[in-house]
Amino acid sequence: MAFVVAIDGPAAAGKGTVARAVAGHFGLSYLDTGLLYRAVGLAVNRGKDAIAVAQKLDLSQLNDRELRTQAAAEAASKVACEPDVREALIATQREFAQRRNGAVLDGRDIGTVICPNANVKLYVFASPEVRAARRYNELTMQGSECDYQTVLKKVQDRDALDEERATAPLAAAVDAKMLDTTSLKIDEAVARAISIIEQARRDQ
Ligand code: C5P
Repeated sequence: MAFVVAIDGPAAAGKGTVARAVAGHFGLSYLDTGLLYRAVGLAVNRGKDAIAVAQKLDLSQLNDRELRTQAAAEAASKVACEPDVREALIATQREFAQRRNGAVLDGRDIGTVICPNANVKLYVFASPEVRAARRYNELTMQGSECDYQTVLKKVQDRDALDEERATAPLAAAVDAKMLDTTSLKIDEAVARAISIIEQARRDQ
């Protein structure tokens, strides 16, 4: 069976950066599963039916730059609460996890629902204030006008939606290794993740 790394955590905790770096380091394929929900959310904003889009979604549709916007993130959190949408996206994610060279998937329910038998599960988190500050810096660097308190509120609202939904809420799997990035630089977080995965590979 292929080597699978499941990475979960809230928005802006650094899991995407860690996941991409880990995939590069170990030569694994990488899927940012948030993009699937963003693609469905954006399609709904454009008047399409969520379930129909989720059933037909394929990975070639995940390159749209619009998927990276705040509007797409908010639309994603809404459609992600619909059990039928989640169900429709399971097969694509599990299929990806079977890539011959192994895979890293990041999201909210990878260790708990999508890949419960993953070789390594990481839960990457940080305080809401630090995550909001990272998002705020990112947005201002891109030239967006925003204020920190509004960004913090959006981070907290998205956390609440993700943690409180009935189906596949954001949660650490019981056997996940916890990675708190609150006071870590990105290269320190990546180094810790790599060392956890190396240990898991040795223990196989
Ligand atoms: O990770 P990202 O911010 O792109 O995810 C956007 C939204 O998609 C999340 O706030 C969450 O509601 C949803 N999502 C999910 N399950 C995943 C990945 C993302 O519910 N595996």
